[in-house]
Amino acid sequence: MRIGVLTGGGDCPGLNAVIRAVVRKGVANYGHEFVGFQDGWRGPLEGLSRPLGIAEVRGILPRGGTILGSSRTNPFKIENGVERIQENLAAQGVDALVAIGGEDTLGVATKLHELGVRVVGVPKTIDNDLNATDYTFGFDTAVNIAMEAIDRLHTTAESHHRTLVVEVMGRHAGWIALHAGLAGGANVILLPERRFDVDQVAGYVEKRFQHQYAPIVVVAEGAQPLDGQMVLHNQELDSFGHVRLGGIGQWLAEQLEAKTGKEARTVVLGHIQRGGTPTAFDRVLATRLGLHAIDAANDGDWGKMVAMQGTEIVRVPLVDATAELKTVPLERYTEAEVFFGS
Ligand code: F6P
Repeated sequence: MRIGVLTGGGDCPGLNAVIRAVVRKGVANYGHEFVGFQDGWRGPLEGLSRPLGIAEVRGILPRGGTILGSSRTNPFKIENGVERIQENLAAQGVDALVAIGGEDTLGVATKLHELGVRVVGVPKTIDNDLNATDYTFGFDTAVNIAMEAIDRLHTTAESHHRTLVVEVMGRHAGWIALHAGLAGGANVILLPERRFDVDQVAGYVEKRFQHQYAPIVVVAEGAQPLDGQMVLHNQELDSFGHVRLGGIGQWLAEQLEAKTGKEARTVVLGHIQRGGTPTAFDRVLATRLGLHAIDAANDGDWGKMVAMQGTEIVRVPLVDATAELKTVPLERYTEAEVFFGS
């Protein structure tokens, strides 16, 4: 077969490890040929492709980002988008696709599969919010980056007796905030899954100062106060209907400073969480997913996504991955609460 590979949506460390595993096993074990589509769904939509053989994937295992480029292109929002994809696949002699992406990219893959395109999905996202898989690669790297930042912020916050609010990514799921906050010993962790009371947070912060330690507050970009709106950069929606989150950290620091009388500053970790080399965990997970994805394609098991369940890599229907968002269960959050304000 001649198989097209693409990476869509926000990039994350480990994408290149998947591409490498798919191509290496696909060529060596099955004799397939590959073509790399550029910039997510824009590649097959506009016929933008590049050669993808063993030579092209050498040395990419530890590299962050994606050698294929990425974008948030939604072919279902473009006139004749699906027909154009089908025409370009036929013109380039591509029999099937391996689509590596999150909620949006795999949502497109699901619909294309229903329209007859042969596709296998591989889940990725730093947010860890995809259903049907216990973990997505990129998440562990993002958590480690955030944890290291929190470790560093503890010492400077204490020197200056100030509150430091750390805003992390994760969109509408609090996984990065929960794990980075627990691993970094945050004083309070605020998630999108549970609205927070600013006065209660100010109380935790004051208590921490009483113990002669400075508080680190980890807030997920999608977290919201009890009686307030989500803080947004702007109201614009991307082609999948998502708003751009961010700004809650600054808002919260201002509130905490006013309520406690202690200086409060904000650190927005932003895209640092998505950049650079993947952790060993993410390299292994990404590699295993890639190996199993090419097996699924070789078996003609279309419309499936490879997923991690326990320690096994399994195949699940693509539609299961995006049926609902995997958010943090309340009991996971309450586990962490014992450390708040202490
Ligand atoms: O989905 C990954 C993610 O990094 C989210 O955590 C974040 O909200 C979003 O992408 C940011 O996207 P962009 O880089 O397009 O602004």
